[in-house]
This record gives sequence, C-alpha cells and structure tokens, in this order.
Amino acid sequence: MANEVTMEFVQGMPKAELHLHIEGSLEPELKLALAQKNHVDIGQSTIEEVRKSYQYDDLASFLAVYYPAMNVLQTEDDFYDLAMAYLKHAKEENVRHVEIFFDPQAHTSRGIAFETFIKGLYRATVDARAMNIDARLIMCFLRDLSRESARKTLEEALPYKDMFIGVGLDSDEHNNPPMKFFPVFVEAEKAGLRLTAHADIDQKDSIEHIRDLLEVIGVERIDHGTNIVEDPDLVDYAVKHQIGFTSCPLSNSFVRPEMKGPEIKELLEKGAKICINSDDPAYFGGYISKNYYELARQFDLTKEQVVQLARNSFEASWISEEQKAIYIAELEEYARTH
Ligand code: ADE
Ligand code: ZN
Repeated sequence: MANEVTMEFVQGMPKAELHLHIEGSLEPELKLALAQKNHVDIGQSTIEEVRKSYQYDDLASFLAVYYPAMNVLQTEDDFYDLAMAYLKHAKEENVRHVEIFFDPQAHTSRGIAFETFIKGLYRATVDARAMNIDARLIMCFLRDLSRESARKTLEEALPYKDMFIGVGLDSDEHNNPPMKFFPVFVEAEKAGLRLTAHADIDQKDSIEHIRDLLEVIGVERIDHGTNIVEDPDLVDYAVKHQIGFTSCPLSNSFVRPEMKGPEIKELLEKGAKICINSDDPAYFGGYISKNYYELARQFDLTKEQVVQLARNSFEASWISEEQKAIYIAELEEYARTH
C-alpha cells in the first residue's frame, strides 16, 4: 500500500498529548545551558557528549540516565523554561490539549521545594493559553520509592490541588506493583483527583498489574499498557469501560526492540481508546508527530486509523464532554480537508 499518511499531515492534525513527562522533554541544549547557569557538573560539556551518554536498552538503564540530568533544574524559572520549551514544540505540532506528567519526588529528594517546581510548571500552563493550547498537570509518584514517600508527597501536594488534575505512577515497575500504592490512590481520588498509572511494556507480571489497576484501583487510563492484548477478556473489560491507553511507539522501540505496532493496531481495531504520545521526547528521538508518523509508516496505518488515534486522544483526555466535541469537530474538519 502506498502510504497515504505524511509527516505534514500528522503535524497539522489537531491532537491531544496525554503521556508526556516534562522532565523527559529536557533537550541537551537546555540541559547544558542550565548546568552552566546553575554551576551543576553533569559530567558532559558538549551536545555530542550529552547525546553519547544516551545509552539505554531497557527501562532501568534509561532511568539511570534520566534522573541525574534533573540536577540542572533548580529554580522556578528553570521549570517554567523547561515547560515552555515543550509547549513551543506542541504548538508547532498542533497539540490542542496536553496533560503533562511531573515527578515531585525526583526534585524534593534533592532539596527542591514543592512550591518551586509546581509554580514554575503551572505558570507555563497558564501562559500556554496565549498559544491556544490547553495544558494541565498530572503529578506522578515514583513507584520504586516507598508508599510512605508517595503518601507524604500527596500530602505536600494537596495545598496546590488546584494546579493539577490527577495523579499517575511511573519509574521502575520491576517488583513495584500498583497495589503497593492502592491506599494513596484512594486518598488521591477522595481529594477529587483523576487516576492514571504506567503499566510499562513487557514488564514482569504485567497482566496482573493491569488487572489490579482496572478492577481494584479503578484508574481511568493506563500509560503504555499494550500487554493487555495477552488477555482478551481484560481487553473487553477495557473497551467496555472506555479505558484510555497512552502508547508511545518511539519510547517502546528504545526500551525494547519493537514499537508494539501490531498490539496498537489490535487495540485500535477492538475499539479501545488507544492514542499516541511521545513519553520522553528529548530521550526517545522525537515529539508526538514523529511517533504518529513512524508508527503509520512502519505498520501501514491508513489515514482513518491515524485520525481515529487522534480522536481517541481527545476522548481519553480529562476535559469536559463539550470541549471534547469541539476538538473532535476540529479534527474531523481537518481530516475532511487534508
Ligand atoms: N519516567 C519517564 N518515562 C517513563 C516511562 N516510560 N516509564 C516509567 N517511568 C518513566
Ligand atoms: Zn511514561
């Protein structure tokens, strides 16, 4: 089949991004500039050296490169600049709505006050409105830290509750099942926050983790989560309950030797609310459009399938039904005229 999906088409297509770690959008240029400004030694002093340090072939080896780099983020303005740099990319790629993950414990653990990063990130989301982007924040707990640490983080975050819309769960899943955080999710939900969580690809006990997330904890979305195809009954459950799946093809191909194209297509065909995202674009070779484009190119997606993925991105988002209808109408019009 001659591929009908071009990079230009996916770039201009209205879409939502629901799986984006703001710390993972730290490009080498900004990393080096902040290192210099804040007098932080990151062990590299040129773009080439930084890029050479990006060697990982699974989640754990990626995280080992990822966390130390965050030392360059020190002031409220640093977090603002980081988020604004991402939002400028988002604008160029017609991301109309974005729900941005941030990792409080990766910053509080190195002495940065909660107030410092939440205020910088939130100010960027307010300024995004002038760019016609609707940007929201989701606070993630680091699952390789203790439940008590997550509980304390939630407590610390609650005075800023109006600045973020939900909670998520990220970092190393190996031997860190979602049930470890069940009580913290219950507290977060009681506080009016929405729930999502990572189920990274090809993790040990993945199906058990996904089942607990869906049937016990009651998350509305799963970040990654494509291993669900191994259990057709669980797929039926997810379709019935309109669970969102935020897949990240380029990220998949860094932590595993594959993008999970067939799994994404299978979930799409079965009517699951699966969408395409960039995860950590500065580390995994591209922003959201490149994720759509490479998936479409390598797995022969039709224009209709690509548009359905974008429709799903709005449907799985945490915006009002009215706002979803507005964005989806915009998307339909784009698909009709391009
Ligand atoms: N932190 C940043 N990206 C992540 C991912 N894909 N999985 C788990 N933790 C992460
Ligand atoms: Zn992620």
